This record gives sequence, C-alpha cells and structure tokens, in this order.
Amino acid sequence: MDLGAAPGGWSEVAARRVGKGGRVVAVDVLPMSPPAGVRFVQGSFLDPQVRAALREAAGGRADVVLSDMMPNVSGIAATDQARAAELVHAAIAFCEEILAPHGAFLVKVFQGAEFGAILAALRRAFGSVKTCKPAASRAESRELYLLARRPRAAGGG
Ligand SMILES: C[S@@+](CC[C@H](N)C(=O)[O-])C[C@H]1O[C@@H](n2cnc3c(N)ncnc32)[C@H](O)[C@@H]1O
Repeated sequence: MDLGAAPGGWSEVAARRVGKGGRVVAVDVLPMSPPAGVRFVQGSFLDPQVRAALREAAGGRADVVLSDMMPNVSGIAATDQARAAELVHAAIAFCEEILAPHGAFLVKVFQGAEFGAILAALRRAFGSVKTCKPAASRAESRELYLLARRPRAAGGG
C-alpha cells in the first residue's frame, strides 16, 4: 500500500518487489500513470470514501504500508507541520485496520513540533520503531523515515 504515491517512484519499486503474485495499491490526490501491476486510486487519503476504495482494491490485509505523503507547503511552519502530522496520524489509524499482524509501516516525517507525538503514537501502535535517514535524503533536510513493525509472536516463524 503506497500512500502519497505520485509520480510513482516507490510504486514502481514496490511492484517489482512483490512480482506477479503480489499486489500494490497506490493513492494520491494528484493523477498518476500507475506502473504495471499497480492499482491506483486518485483522491485524498483523508477522505473516508477514498480509504474504502483502497481497502477494496487491496482485497485483504497489506504486508507493507508506505507513506511518503506530504501536503503542499504553505510556508507557515506550524500549519505545514500540523497538516503533515494529520496525514501521519491518519496513516497510523489506517494501519490498525489494513496491516497484517506482522506487517511493516514506513512513514516520512519531519523533525518538528509534532515529532514527539508521532513517535509516541507509533510506539503505542507497534511497539518497535526505527528511524532511518536514507542516503537519498538531503543531510540538511529535517525529513526522516520511521519504520514500525510489530514483533513476531514466539514460534510464529
Ligand atoms: C514526496 S511526494 C511522493 C513521491 C512518491 N513517493 C514517489 O516515489 O514518486 C508526496 C505526495 O503526497 C501526496 N499527498 C499529499 N496529501 C495527500 C493526501 N491527502 N492524500 C493522498 N496523497 C497526498 C502529494 O500529492 C504528493 O504527490
């Protein structure tokens, strides 16, 4: 499940990774030509009807949820951070219903005023959260990726 997918870079990689037996469902407010093997829903992830369409397109639980969603910046830091955080919290709530029990959630966040609350919400929902700063992310940028996954039950394979 690829949230905030346009123009489609992550979706393309995800489609390659899951191969023919897998399924990638992507959403964005912007139009996108979905790469082969990707089911695309256009609309805002904050719209319950759009989330219902995503659930239907997935047809079951997702193994991985990716969120690279970032709202258009207004230039007012507090507003931008609050909007970005709203998307992250909505994505966490969506994971509660769509993610398979041992699934993983990767989300882009900014290290701003909302960061502590996001980290706490992720820890509550998943237990284990790792921070990652990929080489492709500019060093001076305050963006960071958080990888959350629930621990496997003992003997669960
Ligand atoms: C950094 S871009 C994503 C790039 C993408 N991961 C790729 O590999 O091509 C962030 C995206 O989040 C989308 N976005 C922002 N708010 C959204 C919302 N409410 N619902 C869905 N997508 C949203 C934007 O339209 C934008 O395309």
